Amino acid sequence: MFVRPAEPADEKLLWAMLYEASYARDQGMDSPDQLRDVPGLGHYVEGWGAAGDLGVVGGLDGVSLGAAWLRLFSADDPAFGYVDADTPELAIGVAPESRGTGLGTALMTALIDAARKDYDAVCLSVRQDNPALRLYQRLGFVAVDGSDKVNLAGTTSITMILRFR
Ligand SMILES: CC(C)(COP(=O)(O)OP(=O)(O)OC[C@H]1O[C@@H](n2cnc3c(N)ncnc32)[C@H](O)[C@@H]1OP(=O)(O)O)[C@@H](O)C(=O)NCCC(=O)NCCS
Repeated sequence: MFVRPAEPADEKLLWAMLYEASYARDQGMDSPDQLRDVPGLGHYVEGWGAAGDLGVVGGLDGVSLGAAWLRLFSADDPAFGYVDADTPELAIGVAPESRGTGLGTALMTALIDAARKDYDAVCLSVRQDNPALRLYQRLGFVAVDGSDKVNLAGTTSITMILRFR
């Protein structure tokens, strides 16, 4: 298994992983290309490699199978788990056939290690019924009080935050 820093050339992979992270297939989308036009989704990846962007790519035998990345948002154009303009929001996706093998944990650990050098905290948005919530809790993320909101699927998502200091 490898994990390496994400580069601007990884944008296509990040669109594919955003497709997984946002459960776009369940919402009737056939391709990551459709995410560009979904309000509140495209800005997680569009123009990847901007100032403040930080990400990792991982996989097996040289094949990229997942990515975790984070980006700063603003109050004018907030992401789903927006906390404030200084707290980047993290997204993660692993190819369906490769889940449950430890890649997601490796990606999260590497990204958190890198993020703590640049940021005081990172946040994310997660559906309350997503098993990934356990992974985030294990890594130290805690729910932000009062952050429950209805997501694109019509279920409940919460914001979680990991504070480094
Ligand atoms: C969440 C995800 C990135 C984790 O990657 P992974 O490689 O499966 O992770 P690991 O093998 O290290 O397992 C860690 C945790 O991931 C979750 N997980 C594992 N397999 C999963 C699957 N098939 N579907 C959803 N979550 C899964 C579990 O919480 C697991 O912890 P647990 O064993 O204590 O329950 C990956 O499962 C995925 O892409 N899921 C769909 C997209 C998604 O939910 N993204 C996060 C949105 S907030």
